[in-house]
Amino acid sequence: MITVETIRAMKKQRSKIVCLTAYDYPTARILDESGIDIVLVGDSAANVFAGEKTTLPITMEEMLYHTKVVSHAVHNALVIADMPFLSFQVSESEAIYNAGRFLKVGASGVKLEGTVIASTVKKLVDIGIPVMGHIGLVPQSIHKFGGYKLQGSTRPEASKLLREARLLAYLGCFSIVLEKIPATLARRITGSVNIPTIGIGAGVHCDGQILVLQDMLGLFEDFTPKFVKKYANLGPQIRRAVAAYRQDVKNGKYPDKKHSF
Ligand code: KIV
Repeated sequence: MITVETIRAMKKQRSKIVCLTAYDYPTARILDESGIDIVLVGDSAANVFAGEKTTLPITMEEMLYHTKVVSHAVHNALVIADMPFLSFQVSESEAIYNAGRFLKVGASGVKLEGTVIASTVKKLVDIGIPVMGHIGLVPQSIHKFGGYKLQGSTRPEASKLLREARLLAYLGCFSIVLEKIPATLARRITGSVNIPTIGIGAGVHCDGQILVLQDMLGLFEDFTPKFVKKYANLGPQIRRAVAAYRQDVKNGKYPDKKHSF
C-alpha cells in the first residue's frame, strides 16, 4: 500500500510518481488496478463531473461524497482529497475540521491550493494530516489571474513561486503540484526542494505527473488544455455505442433472446 512516505522515497529513488484524478468508484478501481501511485479526488469534479465553469462552486459535502466513493475502490494507491474553495481559507479551526472529515471518509491526505495559509498547513501536518501543496495556476484563484494563464513566466513571478515551493516543503508538505508553469522553472523548483513535485503543464523535469482522467481519455470535450496528451478518445466511442443501442431498441433488435428470460 502506498503511503506518503512511499511518495517521499520515490523522489530519492528517482522513480516517477504517476497520478490521475477520479471522482467515482468504477474509474478509481481501474486506476488502482493499473498501478497509479496517487488518486486525487480533485475539485476539478466541479468542471468535469458537474459542468460548472470554474472549480469555485463545489462544496465540502460534494467533495466528501466523491472522496468516499473513490476510497471504496482504492486498495493500493494513495487517495488525496482536494479541499474546496472556502473550506480552508476562513479559519484554522475550520480547515482542521474539514481536512479531518476527508480522512474520516477514507482519504490519506488533503491538497490545498496556494500558500497564504502557511500556519494552517503547518498545523494540519503537526496533527497528522498529510498535505499536498499546489502552486502555479491554482484554479481557485482564477478571478485573480483573469484566466487560465501560464504562471511564473516573469522573473519576479518565478522567484515568488520558488519561495512558495520552499515554504511548503519547510512547512512539512509531502509533495507539491506545480500547475502550468514553464518547464525550466519547474526544473529549478524540483531541484530546490526535498519533496516530490507533481507537474501538470509543468514539463518533464518534475518528480511526477498528474492529469485529469477525463481529459486524457478524451471524455471531456468542452476544452482541452495544450498540456494534455489524449491517450484515448472515448467521447466518439461512447457516442457510437449509444447510437447503436438506440438503433437496436428502435428496431426491436434489443433485447434479443440471449438477453431475455
Ligand atoms: O482538481 C484537480 O483535478 C487538480 C489537479 C488537476 C492537479 O487540482
